[in-house]
Amino acid sequence: MGVSGGELVRRAREVMQNAYAPYSRFHVGAAIEAEDGTVHVGCNVENASYGLTICAERMAVGAAVAAGKRSLVRVVVATGIEPPATPCGACRQLLAEFGLDLEIIAVGPSSERRWTLRDLLPEAFTRESLT
Ligand code: THU
Repeated sequence: MGVSGGELVRRAREVMQNAYAPYSRFHVGAAIEAEDGTVHVGCNVENASYGLTICAERMAVGAAVAAGKRSLVRVVVATGIEPPATPCGACRQLLAEFGLDLEIIAVGPSSERRWTLRDLLPEAFTRESLT
């Protein structure tokens, strides 16, 4: 039981509308599909102390984990630019905690790009690195 890719894209674009980005005006939405088909969303949240800004992907990971979901299958990241923006390095690292097989789909207004997290974060530092 999963959601359709179209539904995940719709959810990412929907939550993008709620981005709090008064400084950059760059709105980002992320929708993560967990293994059980549930969807967990996040948007970027900026702060007057700029460095405290949280990216959409990290908010979505937090929502998934808070809902008890740690097996993550796909994430759609929605932005308003072409080519569609890829997750930043910090977000790639946070996502990697939950598996390098994660499918990453970046969508803009008129196109999409797909990778696995393994492609976007080669030679990743993971929990296996600690053993
Ligand atoms: N941002 C994200 O939400 N995700 C990314 O992967 C890249 C950047 C946000 C952070 C900030 O609010 C704005 O985009 C501009 O950097």
